[in-house]
Amino acid sequence: MYKLFIRPIFFLFDPEKIHHFTFSLVKFMSKIPLIPAIFRAVYTVNNKKLEKKVFGLTFKNPVGLAAGFDKNAVLYNELANFGFGFVEIGTVTPKGQVGNPKKRLFRLKDDKGIINRMGFNNEGLEAAIEQLKKNKGKIIIGGNIGKNTHTAPENYTEDYVACFKGLHPYVDYFVLNVSCPNVSSHAKLEDAEYLKELITEVQKINKKEKEPKPILLKIAPDLNNQQLDEIIQLVANTKIDGVIASNTSVNREGLKITNEKLQEIGNGGLSGQPIKDRSTKVIKYLADHSNKAFPIIGVGGIHSEKDALEKLNAGADLVQIYTGFIYEGPSLVKRINKAVLSQLS
Ligand SMILES: Cc1cc2nc3c(=O)[nH]c(=O)nc-3n(C[C@H](O)[C@H](O)[C@H](O)COP(=O)(O)O)c2cc1C
Repeated sequence: MYKLFIRPIFFLFDPEKIHHFTFSLVKFMSKIPLIPAIFRAVYTVNNKKLEKKVFGLTFKNPVGLAAGFDKNAVLYNELANFGFGFVEIGTVTPKGQVGNPKKRLFRLKDDKGIINRMGFNNEGLEAAIEQLKKNKGKIIIGGNIGKNTHTAPENYTEDYVACFKGLHPYVDYFVLNVSCPNVSSHAKLEDAEYLKELITEVQKINKKEKEPKPILLKIAPDLNNQQLDEIIQLVANTKIDGVIASNTSVNREGLKITNEKLQEIGNGGLSGQPIKDRSTKVIKYLADHSNKAFPIIGVGGIHSEKDALEKLNAGADLVQIYTGFIYEGPSLVKRINKAVLSQLS
């Protein structure tokens, strides 16, 4: 239904406009009596066997919605009806910011991919908190946090700390996003020494909270083996609760789209099918070389149940989707959950 009728119409329009239109449509439809129950009946797989305990939280199933879709935490209550086990909101920055100039979101239809250079457009911490106060408690919420684009390097930690403190009462786990290719002056966030300092600072605050929350690090798919070894060491040294692999890629190898069109599109993070194998490789490397010492959320190019199982078999404990949700529609969540279930039994 989605791929046959809805996607061909959606794909006629500007991707960012369609994103906002879909939000309004889902919000509107979810207010109609019975519709949320119908969505749940159609898309949810209810089975205790799908439950998974990871970093101290019990997920009702292992399929999550990746960060960047519900940046401002305005749709997570409604998205809970589409069968997800968790939704990650953000990236939230302390101050609201408009992000990069438009056009900044591009479909690569033949490659089943997306290039985006949104640049952390979001309404900011206070707005996210107001939205999260409306939580109906139906789903696990992750809080993905970052720094404002114009924050000076010496103040990066302050930005993460502000978001961490502000969102702490409202989310179930945190993600330190240090791997977005679309914000400038990112070099510091690739430096293992700085990452250790950042993680330690956030953990210090976490320990003072009555109910400490799991903290994960989100990494790029473009890290080489030496950098991945550094991540494994970093996790061992800081005891951070887990890693999300991966964010979008700056690599453009092996695409069907012509070079000319790629030039036209310009910079940005590539997501979807073209990054599937790279992100799975990262997951496998982290799992194998750490002796599966920490939880991993696998994300990048999951467009089918097979892709999701590949990530889980490579060492991921949970998976997330974004681009696959756009290309395949909400039934993908159910298909993955059914496949996981049949692998269990
Ligand atoms: C339009 C768009 C916006 C995104 N925004 C964010 C973001 O704000 N924070 C973040 O951590 N990841 C963001 N991501 C990355 C996704 O969460 C995910 O890691 C990546 O797209 C790979 O998964 P996929 O291939 O299933 O899309 C964004 C991705 C897309 C396509």
